[in-house]
Amino acid sequence: MEMKKRSPCLMCFLLPVFLLSPASSQATTNSSSCSSVPTLLEHLSAQLKIVVECADTHASQWRENDTATLLDSLRRATDVLQKHQKTVCLDAAPTQCPAPVVHSKGGLVCVTIKEARYCKPMCNKGYDFSFLRRSRLYETCSALTRYLWTTSYVGGNKLAVCNKSSIEISGAETAYFPKDQDCLKTKSDHNLEQQIIQTFVSELKSNGIDGNPEHECLICG
Ligand SMILES: *[C@@H]1O[C@H](CO)[C@@H](O)[C@H](O)[C@H]1NC(C)=O
Ligand SMILES: *[C@@H]1O[C@H](CO)[C@@H](O)[C@H](O)[C@H]1NC(C)=O
Ligand SMILES: *[C@@H]1O[C@H](CO)[C@@H](O)[C@H](O)[C@H]1NC(C)=O
Repeated sequence: MEMKKRSPCLMCFLLPVFLLSPASSQATTNSSSCSSVPTLLEHLSAQLKIVVECADTHASQWRENDTATLLDSLRRATDVLQKHQKTVCLDAAPTQCPAPVVHSKGGLVCVTIKEARYCKPMCNKGYDFSFLRRSRLYETCSALTRYLWTTSYVGGNKLAVCNKSSIEISGAETAYFPKDQDCLKTKSDHNLEQQIIQTFVSELKSNGIDGNPEHECLICG
């Protein structure tokens, strides 16, 4: 039988060699290897992209133990990196404010304007807020709130919860990430991240909060 679809990528055939390469199986870690990680991360992200694209069509030809090793490494990397990811922007002003706790299945887009911190909770596609917050776009922390976060969750720094849901009705329209563009995907693309931040800044402006936005960031849960 003639194969209708030709494989789009030559790299797919070279992958087993990559997965096998001694560099990946015999890598040892020391302080000088840690300092090369930023470069390593760039290469790894690029290579992983290829692995992901090839997996659908070629994974059945890879050795099970190589795939298992990769899955195990990815899982450990995800745990460690995600823990760190949640702690970005901790030094934002005003520093008297506790760091907001970012919820999973979404994120917080935050800016500081005139000594007040504003964070807008957002949910990924397919998730909805557990409280109705259509008219409550953001939470805030400043001297006016005695450096506590305004939040529906009593006595904490958690600003929102995103629960699995087939409909999105509890939040404002802009409080949801678009389809196929969840928080991490957005953060991985500088332009998309800036769009989300700019939307929030103009929303604040139309709420009468105007000024130079500082410490802008998107924190993914
Ligand atoms: C550190 O590890 C790299 C490989 O990851 C190796 O080439 C280098 O010799 C090691 N350096 C020391 C001081 O062990
Ligand atoms: C998988 O098993 C083969 C031998 O069957 C071995 O040569 C290879 O190094 C193993 N791969 C990993 C990642 O351990
Ligand atoms: C949302 O999820 C939380 C825990 O993740 C749960 O306690 C809560 O009951 C859920 N709310 C709804 C409306 O499903």
